[in-house]
Amino acid sequence: MLKIGIITASDKGSKGEREDLSSAAIRELVHDLGQVVAYEVVPDEQELLERKMIEFADELEINLIFTTGGTGFAPRDVTPEATMAVIHRLVPGIGEAMRYESLKVTPLAMLSRGIAGIRNKTLIINLPGSPKAVKECLQAIKPALAHGMDILLGKAEECARRE
Ligand code: MTE
Repeated sequence: MLKIGIITASDKGSKGEREDLSSAAIRELVHDLGQVVAYEVVPDEQELLERKMIEFADELEINLIFTTGGTGFAPRDVTPEATMAVIHRLVPGIGEAMRYESLKVTPLAMLSRGIAGIRNKTLIINLPGSPKAVKECLQAIKPALAHGMDILLGKAEECARRE
């Protein structure tokens, strides 16, 4: 089973002023992929977000980190910048798939700047902030996640026979 971490980027959430329904939506959708072993609500501060991602990846050795929130146009939306600073390899297809599928539901999907990337053996994926957006985006990428993680963790080398 994969070790999964969730980081909610939210100024209000970090002060206890907003209930975090988005992390609950993530938990619901990923329970068959692995176990959520770490969860934190962090204010929209790039340095704090970077530190939390590094802690989850390097110290807790989490395989798959989902962030939610902070991907839009507001001045304090810095989750993609924090992610870009800590990853070693970008995975453009995950962001592309999320936006491609989400655009079928709402044109507002193009306003999420979320990215995905790999830090050592950890895949970090930015999801938008609303529970609805979390569900739509996760449903779009979930069919490829288990195989991607198998390759990242060296459990699968052969892709040719897969459909
Ligand atoms: N993606 C999907 N699938 N569904 C949505 O409703 N909302 C968008 C977008 N992505 C949305 C979505 C909106 S309104 C915004 S502002 C951006 O995500 C950024 O959201 P965030 O700043 O909460 O991360």
